[in-house]
Amino acid sequence: MIVKEIQIAAYLFSSILFILSLGGLSSQESAKRGVFYGIIGMIIAVLATVLGQGVQGHVYIIAAIAVASVIGTLLARKVEMTSMPQLVAILHSFVGLAAVLVGFGSYLDPKTHALGSTEHTIHLVEVFIGVFIGAITFTGSIIAWGKLEGKIRSKPLLYPGRHAVNIVMLLACIVLGVMFTREHGTDGMMYLYIMTAIACFIGVMLVMAIGGADMPVVVSMLNSYSGWAASAAGFMLGNDLLIVTGALVGSSGAILSIIMCEAMNRSFISVILGGFGESSSTGEAQAMEGEVTAMNHEEVADLLKEAKSVVIVPGYGMAVAKAQYPIFEMVQVLRKAGKKVRFAIHPVAGRLPGHMNVLLAEANVPYDIVLEMDEINEDLPETDVVMVIGANDVVNPGAQDDPSSPIYGMPVIEAWKAEKVIVMKRSMSVGYAGVENPLFYKPNTEMLYGDAKVSVEKILSFLKA
Ligand code: TAP
Repeated sequence: MIVKEIQIAAYLFSSILFILSLGGLSSQESAKRGVFYGIIGMIIAVLATVLGQGVQGHVYIIAAIAVASVIGTLLARKVEMTSMPQLVAILHSFVGLAAVLVGFGSYLDPKTHALGSTEHTIHLVEVFIGVFIGAITFTGSIIAWGKLEGKIRSKPLLYPGRHAVNIVMLLACIVLGVMFTREHGTDGMMYLYIMTAIACFIGVMLVMAIGGADMPVVVSMLNSYSGWAASAAGFMLGNDLLIVTGALVGSSGAILSIIMCEAMNRSFISVILGGFGESSSTGEAQAMEGEVTAMNHEEVADLLKEAKSVVIVPGYGMAVAKAQYPIFEMVQVLRKAGKKVRFAIHPVAGRLPGHMNVLLAEANVPYDIVLEMDEINEDLPETDVVMVIGANDVVNPGAQDDPSSPIYGMPVIEAWKAEKVIVMKRSMSVGYAGVENPLFYKPNTEMLYGDAKVSVEKILSFLKA
């Protein structure tokens, strides 16, 4: 009895730590503390579960935890910051698979079928829903991983009537669910198998229908699904902590998805249904007008020496080049020379939420000069130089004035409104969304070709000289 009470208290404490962890993660200053709360909460949760009543086979559990910890540590040490979304996607698939396995395990457990009639039906509904969400999360996350890793083409797979097919499959699952809950013992296994196969198929089709530029929302949506899958597993196991934690992950993932949808001007509902990428990619792409001109490193350094205000717009290329360290050194030199230097961060710059903020924090850039897109856009017309470093889609004016563009309607950083724009990238190639960027052709834009890190180091040497 006392063990059970200690476990409940430990679960409550862990839940509080998880909430504090989420709170901490909402700002850069407190993010480290947030992660720390999360780690402590998880250690307490695992200990309270493993040492709880009725748990057997501790040797196997400890062995499994040890092996998983080694794999987790090696992976986390090895993974590049740019590959983080893929890692997150594949981890979501594990949560989905776990929910499926817990569902099957719970259904096969004789204790389930010893429950009273109403309780039994409720439990079967929990099992069915848990397996359904888990299976969608499992296969959807694997497809998201494949797309992010470049193993599956990122173009949306669209076919006529796919929404109708999805609805029919959903209805079939509801019918199977009703039949499943009417069966006695484990006689409903066949319904569970068929529904799992359909849900796996829905997961694949939902994510296959979504195009590359919309992947960030998919990843955070799958994060949300994995939370609900964990919560459903909590109901099946009668584990309060899993219910609470799953709900926290599920709702925070959904909130993040909504924020990202707003940042990309996408409809949240169409994301959940899958395949919203197609509506915007119709029509002829606008022809580029104007001429592309380029500068060399010395000329850019001279321009910076003249400028009073500079705004740096980092993007995915900064992450690839690991240019954040020399960039901060350059910022320090410019600030010492009395210039106003700030960073402008687009909510979906890079490849994962907060990507740029994390990299800049890694290089010790002070938070007060790192501004969000909405905070800085109105200052850009009064800015002397905007340096676009490895960014492309997030500064594309086509998002505002080209209705045929796949990113039309996505809010962007209005770099072109500054006096002068320097775009630093290796070539004229397109960004993640695969669209041409009219910014490069504007009369006030100059290209500076080359790897972002090498370029910034060269500019720095001219600035210091
Ligand atoms: P992108 O539009 O992807 O453009 C990055 C640019 O960086 C490329 O055009 C590339 O041009 C350049 N680049 C690559 N390596 C470089 C290097 N070593 N040195 C210099 N430049 C380099 O990036 P963005 O502007 O940050 O926009 C992000 C895009 O990714 C959006 O479309 C967004 O929707 C999508 N996305 C975002 C997320 C999240 S959550 N942030 C997740 C998935 C997808 P060159 O090849 O010519 O160098």
